[in-house]
Amino acid sequence: MSYSTSATTTGAQEGATAKRGLWSSRLAFILAATGSAVGLGNIWKFPYITGENGGGAFVLVYLVCIAAVGIPIMMAEVLIGRRGGRSPVNSLRLIAERDKLHPAWKLVGVIGVLAAFLILSFYSVIGGWAVSYVGTAASGQLAGQTAESIGAIFSNLLSDPGTLLLWHTVFMALVMVVVARGVRAGLERAVSILMPGLFLLLLAVVAYAMTTGHFGQAVSFLFQPDFSKLTTSGVLVALGHAFFTLSLGMAIMMAYGSYLPKGISIAKTSITVSIMDTGVALLAGLAIFPIVFANGMEPGAGPGLIFQTLPLAFGQMPMGSLFGTLFFVLLIFAAWTSGISLLEPLVEWLEEQKGMNRTISTLVAGLACWGLGIASILSLNLWSDVAPLGMFAMFEGKTIFDLLDFLTANILLPLGGLLVAVFTGWFMSKQALKNELSLSDSSFKLWYNTLRYLTPVAVLVVFIYNLS
Ligand code: PHE
Repeated sequence: MSYSTSATTTGAQEGATAKRGLWSSRLAFILAATGSAVGLGNIWKFPYITGENGGGAFVLVYLVCIAAVGIPIMMAEVLIGRRGGRSPVNSLRLIAERDKLHPAWKLVGVIGVLAAFLILSFYSVIGGWAVSYVGTAASGQLAGQTAESIGAIFSNLLSDPGTLLLWHTVFMALVMVVVARGVRAGLERAVSILMPGLFLLLLAVVAYAMTTGHFGQAVSFLFQPDFSKLTTSGVLVALGHAFFTLSLGMAIMMAYGSYLPKGISIAKTSITVSIMDTGVALLAGLAIFPIVFANGMEPGAGPGLIFQTLPLAFGQMPMGSLFGTLFFVLLIFAAWTSGISLLEPLVEWLEEQKGMNRTISTLVAGLACWGLGIASILSLNLWSDVAPLGMFAMFEGKTIFDLLDFLTANILLPLGGLLVAVFTGWFMSKQALKNELSLSDSSFKLWYNTLRYLTPVAVLVVFIYNLS
């Protein structure tokens, strides 16, 4: 069956998209792609890795990575999806056939599916933290707490495998319910309300952060580069995060791109999605760091940062329980739309290759992912000393949770992205690229040369540093 990408939605197309659980309207692409991109990566991960890597210089490198590596690759992924018009593995196979290239190129799609699966296993555990904090905030437990007692709430959560398992299960169930039924207008509508809602609440927290008296310190922490604080590993983390936050290197944008109507500009939509994503990340930084500094907390506190600083602020502001509850509900929605996009590739692949129906394939993929998530949960407490690949210097002291994060964000995603760049820039027919993008000559050249030279070299240099 071929999936039409015409701008008008026909009944047959609607049937096909509903069956495969994709978005129903043309505008939905930006919504879906932004929903996938904006997630825990922006609100949870960006602030804490910025803190761990010393601030401004890291942020600068990250912005360069978004512009020079992220946007060109996002355009390439969307382009491959729209040109192939199928699920990622088959789009790659079709294009390779059409342009007389080696069939092994479809492996790029396979790497993507694997990376998405691994990411979701620990992403769901963190999504579960957000679920748990809804209850904490709603029951008024955050009110009047000190930095220490807020820290204790978080460390008690992490040290309790049973509770973590419960919330991980709830989060995974949320994702599976939607994926199994297909991504319907209900979620689309929810996202179109909740993403702006998240944005507004973030602005509200930024406004509160401005009153702490430490806003200026946070601004200079984020935007005044001090290159003496930048390490090689910081550059690697920034590049990996550019892939992670834009949902690149794992074929998701290819899948969504296959439903992008022909008339719509790939460049404009990709840039829009990237700007919204980056905007949310920077706002999260501006919301969190003033509160960190005002309370004498450690910006390099690691993964717990957002679960300790924001609750502290909510506990002190008027109507904090309400704001806190809403914030964590919205964080769940941000994570939820990303989680759905992470499960989708594997479910699609199981349907296509193994002939399973959607419910069964969702159950198989979701339960496998849920099971792997248990290892991440245990590595936070009972297995916190277990470092499976600790014999390699690169992985020393890394728990299963750390390892999955490191392997995906720092190795699989950049590798997937590198291959996409090489495939598109060096192998696909140039005329086909021009037709898909319909850019002015100079814009096309800028994109094409960036993708051919700058992007692969940047990714390679970081890789080689990492290995040596
Ligand atoms: N981009 C999402 C985030 O920032 C995470 C994600 C990665 C989602 C990869 C889908 C694919 O939270």
